[in-house]
Amino acid sequence: MSQSSPTATEAWAQLAQAAQQNPPLTELLTEPGRDARLCHTLGQCRFDFSKQHVALAQLEHLYQLADEQAVAAKRDQLLAGEKINRSEDRAVLHTALRGTPLSDPTRNQDISAAVDGVLQRTYALVKAVQNGDWRGHTGKRINNVVHIGIGGSHLGPQLVTDALAQHARNDLSLHYVANIDAFELEQALARSNPETTLFVIASKSFTTLETQINASSARSWFLERGGTLAGIAQHFVAVTNNIEAAARFGLPEDNLLPMWDWVGGRFSLWSAVGLPIALKIGCDNHAALLAGAKLADEHFASADLGDNVPMLMALLATWNYNFLGATSLALLCYDERLKLLPNFLQQLEMESNGKSVDLHGQPVDYHTMAVLWGGTGTNGQHAYHQLLHQGTRAYAADFVMVGHDDHRRREHHNWLSANAMAQSQAMAQGFQAPEGETHRSVAGNHSSTIITLDELGPHALGVLLAVYEHKVFCQAAIWNINAFDQWGVELGKNLAVPIYGALTGDAEQTSLDPSTTALIKHLKKNVNRR
Ligand code: F6P
Repeated sequence: MSQSSPTATEAWAQLAQAAQQNPPLTELLTEPGRDARLCHTLGQCRFDFSKQHVALAQLEHLYQLADEQAVAAKRDQLLAGEKINRSEDRAVLHTALRGTPLSDPTRNQDISAAVDGVLQRTYALVKAVQNGDWRGHTGKRINNVVHIGIGGSHLGPQLVTDALAQHARNDLSLHYVANIDAFELEQALARSNPETTLFVIASKSFTTLETQINASSARSWFLERGGTLAGIAQHFVAVTNNIEAAARFGLPEDNLLPMWDWVGGRFSLWSAVGLPIALKIGCDNHAALLAGAKLADEHFASADLGDNVPMLMALLATWNYNFLGATSLALLCYDERLKLLPNFLQQLEMESNGKSVDLHGQPVDYHTMAVLWGGTGTNGQHAYHQLLHQGTRAYAADFVMVGHDDHRRREHHNWLSANAMAQSQAMAQGFQAPEGETHRSVAGNHSSTIITLDELGPHALGVLLAVYEHKVFCQAAIWNINAFDQWGVELGKNLAVPIYGALTGDAEQTSLDPSTTALIKHLKKNVNRR
């Protein structure tokens, strides 16, 4: 199996040459057979790559790149439960969380049983809250949940409960607290009653600063408002891989839902981290979300390269970033309910594949993940789309639209869809203004993908999110990097400790640079003035 740099492959050289002679996208759009090769349907999701700036003939070179980088063999290692996260010596098994069995039967049994056990406990907790068996310390029903967690322990659940709000229960309010900025916690607490609130602390490590500080402030808030130490068991539960630390927080074992070291934080919404999803939209909808993801797993495991949606997505992304010079991926959601999708995918793609050494720790000589950013249409059209159409940098875009409108305002919905398609068309075809009016010209030639969900339900959303997860894996396999660690975020965490010390104490911190020291002095003067 290849363990080498993609730039050493034959396919890379061929693709580099092809990129020099890439025909205009307007020409490619009329290539016969484009639909059949570049449009794929998976469950209720249609993935349309026909506006990617790639000639059908070049697809063969992309497939060859996947072959030379052994993407399929690496996928098989992932799905067999091998320890592919080498820097942390861990397997990567988020697929098992949605009931996809490991292809290695010797590992499968224990893992499926453990996953099912926790899922059943999660559903039992949800049902106890729903039917009033789980009550607060004064005997009142729980009607409010505050979920405390950050990064992967936050973005997935909030994306899903926002997106599926139309499936939500009205008798339970849900708030998310992620930021260490107390404004977020304050807002949630202001809407909470300590007698009827359940706090969910989601933290794989149970050491993350933001979550620790927010959880301990929430605990104090509860105790200062009539809560008792014994009552903590009725108002706090935790989802974690660090059972000892959660127990030290004062939680009995029954209140702890375990997760495992083989679940990466940003791949964890399918674990008990998704508890608020089941609480808010119910266990059946939660199960449909998992089933959608499982469908994507099965497709990823078995579809041929040319039809394999995550593999195609990763290959086309490689083409855009490494050969056409795209410096960003714009995630343009034409559905207000998906407004958190860019944030979720930002963590998924940028935390996973924002790397500069390969699997062997050697510096890479090619670009890895570009900036992923985005927002909702049509608002973005009145803001950053100007730059997309007439700016100077290359980029690629993913459009996400929903076929069925759930609000029954058909006129709005048809205009929304028409706008998404028009933007994608403008990006592809551009516009040649008459002479003397170059300010009106639009270059075009920008690759975009249009993903259409027939309707925004739990199953389709499960497919969509799992496809992006597998795309991230394939992308890392092509780039020969580890998608499952995130050592880069550690440095800033460590540096914050002496800065906090200098900000809150009198001791001079000799380790700090003069610029930071001056800023701390300035902040201290301001704090002292009040
Ligand atoms: O930002 C780094 C990170 O480790 C993410 O990968 C993770 O999702 C997040 O912090 C939260 O971590 P935890 O669940 O351990 O609190």
